Amino acid sequence: MGWITMNISVESFGKIMGTLVLPFNKGDDGIDSTALSGLGDGLVGQLTKLFADKDVTGKAGERLTLHSPDGKAMLWGMGKSGERNVDSCRSSGAKFFAGLKKRHGKSLTVRPVGWSSEELAAFAEGMIMRDYKYDHYKSKGNDDDEDDDLSVDVIIQCADEHLDSLSASATRSAQVASGVFRARDLANAPPNDLYPMAYADLAVEWASDKDSVKVTIIDYDEAVKLGMGGLVGVGMGSSRKPCMVIFEMNADIEGEAPVIVGKGITFDTGGISIKPSASMDEMKFDMHGSATVFGLMQALEETGHSGRVTGISCMAENMPDAAAQRPGDVITTLSGKTVEILNTDAEGRLVLSDGLWMAADYNPSYIVDLATLTGAIVIALGHEATGMWTNDDDLGKALVAAGDHCGELVWPMPLTEAFEKEMKDSKIADLRNLGTTRWGGSNTAAAYLKNFVQSRGEGEDKKQIPWAHLDIAGTAWGAKSNVLVANGGTGIHVRTLHHMISEGL
Ligand code: BES
Ligand code: MN
Ligand code: ZN
Repeated sequence: MGWITMNISVESFGKIMGTLVLPFNKGDDGIDSTALSGLGDGLVGQLTKLFADKDVTGKAGERLTLHSPDGKAMLWGMGKSGERNVDSCRSSGAKFFAGLKKRHGKSLTVRPVGWSSEELAAFAEGMIMRDYKYDHYKSKGNDDDEDDDLSVDVIIQCADEHLDSLSASATRSAQVASGVFRARDLANAPPNDLYPMAYADLAVEWASDKDSVKVTIIDYDEAVKLGMGGLVGVGMGSSRKPCMVIFEMNADIEGEAPVIVGKGITFDTGGISIKPSASMDEMKFDMHGSATVFGLMQALEETGHSGRVTGISCMAENMPDAAAQRPGDVITTLSGKTVEILNTDAEGRLVLSDGLWMAADYNPSYIVDLATLTGAIVIALGHEATGMWTNDDDLGKALVAAGDHCGELVWPMPLTEAFEKEMKDSKIADLRNLGTTRWGGSNTAAAYLKNFVQSRGEGEDKKQIPWAHLDIAGTAWGAKSNVLVANGGTGIHVRTLHHMISEGL
């Protein structure tokens, strides 16, 4: 199928370039005359007749293209008028872009009338987010339809009062999108090419010409020396050795600042506790937490973020091998805490043990970790929301609010004493890496992680650093209802965290 890419621009109502796109609502009995200015009589006549005969409904996603000797016009259904909001406009923009065909022309002039600035911005954001494909591994010249590939100009015409804000937000959306696309590219990359040190090399290369970012790699030998028993234990069975990648943005700025930690399992076979083979290929996405960390750094850099932010990616490949860790092993993590390995497939929490402990070295205002951690969260929440556990209500509320704002739902889950106790129930070590039963598997995983969040202060003031864990196993890929992406990695929470951090939280 031919592929369409887009150049977006914003201007005031004026000359129609190419096809005129007319968003309209369910129940509308015509199109606002502002939107029809400059349109030929033939098309205006067709439109009038269409509405008179009630041949269009306006339901969300309805598309009808009219042809006449003096041009083309497309009706674009937006659903019930009272139900238009930022979320529906974002989805509508994405669906609109997804359905564009060569026959719709090289230029399209979109005229949404009566929308708020935020709704216009969301429609543009939706289009921008959907303008992505992963074709690095498709040989060029092999595709019969390549001739159909097309770059279209999408011109949004709006009232003068919205011009400045819409131009600015479309530019910003494109900058943030570069981070989202980075995360998707990393997630979609095949695991034979994207292994731990390959991720590290990409990070170093990306940072090399950026004044505000410094990338440090803790390679395998150093991880062994430092005592990162979690990272080493998971990664030692692979010929592609594990590493930790640390991104520091505006490192000179003093004071507390956010630290974001990502699970980066470039492939999760389960290790000696090997997974069944059905859909095992999807375990290339098991590094999406680290993909989000990288994408977030890129989005912040592109938008010129001036605050300090740290990203820590815990990279390893989980393989069965003569040198792999076994169920029954006891490891000593960077924290000094020992962990009895009862299932080598519960590996994400092991690499995060060291990443979370390390996070405290960067004077965090808070720590957020992202991980495709458990299949159980997909059972609980499906693909519709990320599970969130936190030791700090304010941080939790901020994450939920930022997720709502971006249409990337974050759902509070319980972090309770009983789950914590369960994970301490080992006869021979401080902790176990598996719950005692299979119930509440996402909650026990979160409770385990809490042991690696350091405390600060003395005596009465001693308090754990604010921390939240995001289990993105259901939202990192495979959500049919996520119209912002056609397939593959979603780039989930690059926008959420970018929004939260750039708002100063
Ligand atoms: N990467 C998986 C979690 C996962 C499973 C993500 C399916 C997306 C889809 C993780 O490392 C894992 O294997 N978790 C186990 C934990 C269990 C052994 C306690 C799981 O969820 O089965
Ligand atoms: Mn696993
Ligand atoms: Zn995993």
